[in-house]
Amino acid sequence: DSPVVALGGGIIGDTAGFAAATFQRGLPLVHVPTTLLAMVDASIGGKTGVNFTLPGGGLGKNLIGAFWQPRAVLIDPMVLGTLGERDLRCGLAECVKTAIIADAPLLEYLSDRVSEILALDTSTLVDLIERCVRIKVAIVCADERETGRRALLNLGHTFAHAIEAQQHLGLRHGEAVSIGLAAAMECGVRTDRMNDADRGRVTRLLEKIGLPVALPQPVPLGDLTHAMQFDKKAVGGKARLIIPEGLGVASIRDDVPEEVVNAAWVSVGAV
Ligand SMILES: NC(=O)c1ccc[n+]([C@@H]2O[C@H](COP(=O)([O-])OP(=O)(O)OC[C@H]3O[C@@H](n4cnc5c(N)ncnc54)[C@H](O)[C@@H]3O)[C@@H](O)[C@H]2O)c1
Repeated sequence: DSPVVALGGGIIGDTAGFAAATFQRGLPLVHVPTTLLAMVDASIGGKTGVNFTLPGGGLGKNLIGAFWQPRAVLIDPMVLGTLGERDLRCGLAECVKTAIIADAPLLEYLSDRVSEILALDTSTLVDLIERCVRIKVAIVCADERETGRRALLNLGHTFAHAIEAQQHLGLRHGEAVSIGLAAAMECGVRTDRMNDADRGRVTRLLEKIGLPVALPQPVPLGDLTHAMQFDKKAVGGKARLIIPEGLGVASIRDDVPEEVVNAAWVSVGAV
């Protein structure tokens, strides 16, 4: 019954968590996240997973995994002192996602405090991490196995996972999520669920944080839509997308027309 202690970022958490879930049919797990992204998101909620090669090649993001709740999550923001600024910004992408789905005032909070956060102001970090963790815990407690509302946490991620599969781009998960949020908002605007002003607010915030809102170089649309089919949320090969309905509210939809999804890809730089 020796516990597995996952000391590291989201990748260590997902991999060590999966090992804990499967080795000898399960060992106790303790998460000690050391990146902002892992503190506000990856260490919470019990999802573990590893990537696997897709049929025909390509990255199958989190294709193999298990739900395995940690016994404890120990978060000390002081360890962020050695984290590179690029990874710190990546953590903020998941905070923006959290704000869009469940906490509109968090957008303004983030916008007002970007420099304090990047300067690692401890009380701001504690405040931010606690706020995001509370939201994720509430969503997971209501729907641990993702039969409904928990899927909202995947906002931007169906796009992001297809972007991460383009490994030549060299993007981090948080950067892919940021571009994915831009694409999901484009779907929201095109289906009249989100207005352009709200989309503009979020886009300006992502840019202020220093996150990308478009692909760093053109990627063929077919490569992205192909990778999207392998998303675990896809039903019968059709993407199930989380669409923002304004700020602080989002919905799970499997009726987004293909031309809207394609237009969203083009809006972030697909060709
Ligand atoms: N399980 C979940 O619910 C969940 C949720 C969100 C994201 N994720 C996964 O998390 C991963 C991304 O996590 P991440 O952004 O933490 O990336 P990461 O784990 O790759 O860490 C980023 C980099 O920072 C380094 N690092 C970690 N802590 C450090 C510290 N304190 N000081 C200096 N360097 C440090 C790591 O070695 C790595 O090079 C993705 O694979 C994503 O799919 C999982």
